[in-house]
Amino acid sequence: MSFSILGTGKAVPEYVLTNDELSTMVETSDEWISTRTGIKRRHICKSETITELCIKASNEAMQNAGVSAKDLDLIICATLRGEYITPSQACVIQKELGATCPAFDINAACSGFIYALDVADGFFARGRVKKVLVIALDNLSNIVDWKDRNTCVLFGDGGGAAVLGEGDGLKYVEITAKGDTSVLQCPHGENTSPFYEHPSKPPYLYMNGPEVYKFAVVSMVRGIRNAIRKAGLTEEEIDWVIPHQANIRIIETAVSKLKIPSERFIRTISEYGNTSGGSCAIALADSVEKGLFKKGDNIVFCAFGAGLTTGSCVITWDKD
Ligand SMILES: CC(C)(COP(=O)(O)OP(=O)(O)OC[C@H]1O[C@@H](n2cnc3c(N)ncnc32)[C@H](O)[C@@H]1OP(=O)(O)O)[C@@H](O)C(=O)NCCC(=O)NCCS
Repeated sequence: MSFSILGTGKAVPEYVLTNDELSTMVETSDEWISTRTGIKRRHICKSETITELCIKASNEAMQNAGVSAKDLDLIICATLRGEYITPSQACVIQKELGATCPAFDINAACSGFIYALDVADGFFARGRVKKVLVIALDNLSNIVDWKDRNTCVLFGDGGGAAVLGEGDGLKYVEITAKGDTSVLQCPHGENTSPFYEHPSKPPYLYMNGPEVYKFAVVSMVRGIRNAIRKAGLTEEEIDWVIPHQANIRIIETAVSKLKIPSERFIRTISEYGNTSGGSCAIALADSVEKGLFKKGDNIVFCAFGAGLTTGSCVITWDKD
């Protein structure tokens, strides 16, 4: 027994930062950002906390699933950095929702949503749970160097949630990691211990864009192909692709290499930028909101991110 998705939700901050406004902060332009990345706007936290966004997405997902907090058997939150170092963001969410089940975080960067689905699958397989809440949400504006045009134009805040219940919706899921700290990392920042001997680096996101790009393109195409094959399907049988939204050119390269029509790829990057773990979860909730999926549709997800991690899965939509 695995799971089916019973309900989805999303939450993004109200404030919209346009490329034009960014161009007043660093030396860039709407033209550069749009053509190199496909991003037009991103939503950035001003008054909202990450917890408030997590609760909004969770409540929406639970309402759409017809499930209340007392029904939950497990909460998994995929995030790079929650409200606290400890307790976990999942425990904070559990408290705010009034749930009583176990709760923990997963840090797999942009692949976090798919990592969380894989972990949840294990709990269903062992018969330990009937209802699981998965939240994938990040607040990258908090770790971006707003003076670095190489990175600050790419990211946004927000994420989504999904309630999972016993079912056969999940057809295949796979996660990978290739330990690497050189191309994408964010240090903790200052170590305040008077005993610690190593220098500290400011807590900003550091990225080698072209190296990440190469990893992304290869991972995306390989991950999608592999997940489809392992699910016992062909590319022709795929109705929708939800790719990680990091750069529209990465998505378009995948489109050019796969036998899946371009219009079947969900693209939300122009509105939200790269929201890390939140990206696939937002795209899922957006698609559900628009009524894109019908019962029996095969949806393939694929993500990549710091780690370097990847995740891919195939889910058959089994809601009317
Ligand atoms: C970051 C990325 C958009 C850069 O695109 P690119 O086409 O590779 O561009 P380059 O890195 O070659 O930079 C080209 C030039 O634009 C400049 N540039 C970088 N950011 C800029 C910006 N925001 N505005 C204007 N110019 C910019 C660079 O300084 C460089 O100038 P130079 O040639 O004078 O040195 C691209 O590499 C990318 O998307 N990588 C993957 C990032 C990613 O997915 N990260 C998250 C993983 S989860």
